[in-house]
Amino acid sequence: MAKLNGKIALITGGTTGIGLAAAKRFHEAGARVFVSGRNPKTLDEARKVLSKDVELILADSGKLPDLDRLVSELKTRAGRIDVLFVNAGIANFLPAEAADEAHWDDIMNVNLKGPFFLAQKALPLLGKGASVLFTTSVAGQRGFASTAVYTTSKAGLAGLARVLAAEWAPRGIRVNSIAPGPIATPIYSKLGLPAKDLAGFELSMQQRVPLHRFGVDDEVAKAALFLASDDASFITGEELFVDGGLAIA
Ligand SMILES: NC(=O)c1ccc[n+]([C@@H]2O[C@H](COP(=O)([O-])OP(=O)(O)OC[C@H]3O[C@@H](n4cnc5c(N)ncnc54)[C@H](OP(=O)(O)O)[C@@H]3O)[C@@H](O)[C@H]2O)c1
Repeated sequence: MAKLNGKIALITGGTTGIGLAAAKRFHEAGARVFVSGRNPKTLDEARKVLSKDVELILADSGKLPDLDRLVSELKTRAGRIDVLFVNAGIANFLPAEAADEAHWDDIMNVNLKGPFFLAQKALPLLGKGASVLFTTSVAGQRGFASTAVYTTSKAGLAGLARVLAAEWAPRGIRVNSIAPGPIATPIYSKLGLPAKDLAGFELSMQQRVPLHRFGVDDEVAKAALFLASDDASFITGEELFVDGGLAIA
């Protein structure tokens, strides 16, 4: 039986990479899927590859008025949310001593502040049996040099997920995180690194990962489908690493 039959799912940042793969998986699994993204161009491109049943909404995950509008759209169109996959995120890496306030705010607004307020604003639409997932990162568990603000955002998100799991368990809402390791998605092309440096970074990551490769977006999407579905009905407060073993390397 389809694992998300009859469920309403919202995936933020579902226009490329992990979110896009999850949108495909969740739709195949029987969910009515809503996808948000901030970029009209990537929203249009996602429109072309996703089923016409998937509903796309332009909303910036780092802007609170957009999150109000997003939740209000879900309320009007679907009346509830059964699976909230808070996945939108950005990466930008600087050593701590070089990180200024703009760097902090850019990352924190999308990776931590937006997820906190989206979860809070969506709560009235989450009922008994709902599943909330946050995309954290293996970085939040490790201490990779030159990733201070990104790592802080993801470690904070993992903490938030555990708190919400405790606070919302009495309502029958499960809250978990998925922590990807290096996954081949467009996020790396947005780092602004010269091609040579990017290639060097990718090679060094492959060598560090015990399974000696990057993951693919669908490997994360399958884990998200598991945690979103009733197959994970007794799992809450968990952070599932989909990282080829990097967290323990
Ligand atoms: N790939 C990895 O190695 C890796 C590792 C650990 C954690 N992660 C996490 O996984 C999540 C997904 O990343 P990905 O690798 O799939 O990267 P991606 O392909 O860049 O996907 C990120 C998605 O989020 C969207 N997005 C970014 N900023 C947004 C905003 N302000 N409002 C709404 N949507 C926004 C992007 O859309 P546009 O950019 O088109 O606007 C895109 O749809 C992120 O939270 C990332 O931190 C990734």
